[in-house]
Amino acid sequence: DKGGYRHYMLKEIFEQPKALGDTLSERFAHGRPLEAVLGPDAAELLPQVRGVHIVACGTSYHAGLVARYYLEQGGGVPCTVEVASEYRYRDPVVPPGTLFLAISQSGETADTLAALRFARGSGYVATAAICNVPESSLVRESDLVLMTRAGPEIGVASTKAFTTQLAALGLFGMLVARHNRLDARMEKLYARQLLHVPAQVEKTLQLESAMIKWAEWFADKHHALFLGRGPSFPVALEGALKLKEISYIHAEAYPAGELKHGPLALVDADMPVVAVAPNNRLIEKLKSNLQEVRARGGQLFVLADPDTGIRSEPGIEVVTMPEHIEALQAPLVYTVPLQLLAYHVAVARGTDVDQPRNLAKSVTVE
Ligand code: M6R
Repeated sequence: DKGGYRHYMLKEIFEQPKALGDTLSERFAHGRPLEAVLGPDAAELLPQVRGVHIVACGTSYHAGLVARYYLEQGGGVPCTVEVASEYRYRDPVVPPGTLFLAISQSGETADTLAALRFARGSGYVATAAICNVPESSLVRESDLVLMTRAGPEIGVASTKAFTTQLAALGLFGMLVARHNRLDARMEKLYARQLLHVPAQVEKTLQLESAMIKWAEWFADKHHALFLGRGPSFPVALEGALKLKEISYIHAEAYPAGELKHGPLALVDADMPVVAVAPNNRLIEKLKSNLQEVRARGGQLFVLADPDTGIRSEPGIEVVTMPEHIEALQAPLVYTVPLQLLAYHVAVARGTDVDQPRNLAKSVTVE
């Protein structure tokens, strides 16, 4: 049942405030996340964790890339993130005190499951899963489990599963980091910021009409570039993946600082460049990267915080977020307009949004 929406994907994009609210509800007490959300063994295992290895595929991998910032910047917890099909075929070195974390919407992705099975005998403190399907193999086989509560996701392009994974990872990050460098005062601040995200996402959905306008510009293009820095780089990766998956436009994401190391050569008037620009410590660096694009005649589409000072002018289309977005919130909130952009480009091109060619919802073969 598409609930009156034209596609499941659009329905699922609009379900995000509720999915996020559900994922966060009853998981905090006295303004801090509850350890028990990870299961009965969490109290014993979490104090031993000094580092995390995250493994996942596709969109879930992008969620892992964001989590690295939550763990390292907020908590001083070293973290590596890797795609499962690579991780399982090398010989990862596991430092003492490392937790293995698999992220998967379905809990049945073949490579992710194989990675988990490999990890079990590899000297980790424990294995953990963030997953959306309670009866999945991943959930059954992991020591610690944090469920996202996105509800069933039908569209092949993952939307609400991704943002709920980020919410779960915010929570997970605090639970691990509090045994490392995160103090109680900062933890409460982060918890408050996270709990405000469903309301921010609700407001951000109103950017749909602006994304419909941007989509007209993209519909006849063959390539697009997505830029971000820091935690916005994985957001750019996710925006590019959504666009290529459902509209079949070749899209690539780059950390904006890498532009002049190669991709700048591609930039011309036929290459729309999307930039993710929250007002954080990297904003001035990002602005000069955007100037580099403008100087080559590239058309910029910038999603920015209202307080960045970036304004629309010829060659630069700016859409501002409904309010200032904090660092922890930014990956969740900024993802939403990029989902809407990809969706409306696909609709404009007449592709099969919910069932893109060559793809399956759950990849149960290697
Ligand atoms: O069920 P999983 O989260 O393990 O799936 C991983 C990927 O196959 C999945 O995220 C895929 O990249 C999506 N189609 C992206 O929209």
